[in-house]
Amino acid sequence: MGHSLFNGSVMWSKTYSFTSSPYPGQNSIQRVIVFGDMGKAERDGSNEYSDYQPGALNTTDQLIRDLDNIDIVFHIGDLSYSNGYVSQWDQFTAQVEPIASTVPYMIASGNHERDWPNSGSFYNTPDSGGECGVPAETMFYYPPQNKAKFWYSTDYGLFHFCIADSEHDWREGSEQYKFIEQCLASADRHRQPWLIFAAHRVLGYSSNSWYGQEGSYEEPMGRESLQKLWQKYKVDIAFYGHVHNYERSCPIYQNHCMSKERNHYSGVMNGTIHVVVGGGGSHLTKFSQLIPYWSVYRDYDWGFVKLTAFNQSSLLFEYKKSRDGKVYDSFTVSRDYRDVLACVHDSCEPTTLAT
Ligand SMILES: [Fe+2]
Repeated sequence: MGHSLFNGSVMWSKTYSFTSSPYPGQNSIQRVIVFGDMGKAERDGSNEYSDYQPGALNTTDQLIRDLDNIDIVFHIGDLSYSNGYVSQWDQFTAQVEPIASTVPYMIASGNHERDWPNSGSFYNTPDSGGECGVPAETMFYYPPQNKAKFWYSTDYGLFHFCIADSEHDWREGSEQYKFIEQCLASADRHRQPWLIFAAHRVLGYSSNSWYGQEGSYEEPMGRESLQKLWQKYKVDIAFYGHVHNYERSCPIYQNHCMSKERNHYSGVMNGTIHVVVGGGGSHLTKFSQLIPYWSVYRDYDWGFVKLTAFNQSSLLFEYKKSRDGKVYDSFTVSRDYRDVLACVHDSCEPTTLAT
């Protein structure tokens, strides 16, 4: 990579190499990393004025160490916590450069990228420090229909991703809701069986302490509209950040666990597994004392998720801690296309007398 200066000389970067992405539906092994809320830290401890993201370097280093076994990364919001200071963006991009120069570094928008009072964000909080999404939209590539509206769909081999923007309205009737339905509906499950939804805030399920105090176990108004879309289009896994810990749910349909199985799902899935993976690096979030019935695994620590699609019918999910890179929670999914097609409650047209 390089650019020419006004005096005609050319500046070159170090030399990097990367592998081009598999085409949609390509049947090869594909490994996907997902986490949120990583942020940055100084390796020498300098300028560490608040130590706000104490796990950031551990997560970054584990990913760099395993880079030969990673194909694409999704950092689902709260990227750098720059909060209006562009030097902090420089520091963050330098930190993730070994990763982002080698594999696609896909992002979602979080409150620390976007929110600012009266700027059009869904929440009137000052969390972006006045950035209003502009640095994030400018520094990273992502394929939205409109850059200021940070929702997009993307394909990676056997995966179809629908990335939502929880800093803009997602409720039924909104522009984003229409997009989410169209994105989920357009997945060709025969060729791309693994359908993944992601958003920064917890639009699904989390038992962190403040959601527990509210009794909602979600971001207010989070899943009321979206649940029927996840169900209708049989989303396999929904990922969230914002809450700085790790939690995995059972396969959920209409607030009910559809399976008591914890580690090996086979055949018809019957529900969506919701995963909070916001422990990328920022200070940790406590869980509620009550453990909801749908909560399968909770971890108060920093970590990230790795998905491995071996082919169209076999998926491995692993949660790894950033401190040691070891797997602490995992499950597998084994199923065929006919299992995706199978009718689950309201996911098929109502039957007629003739049937
Ligand atoms: Fe956040």
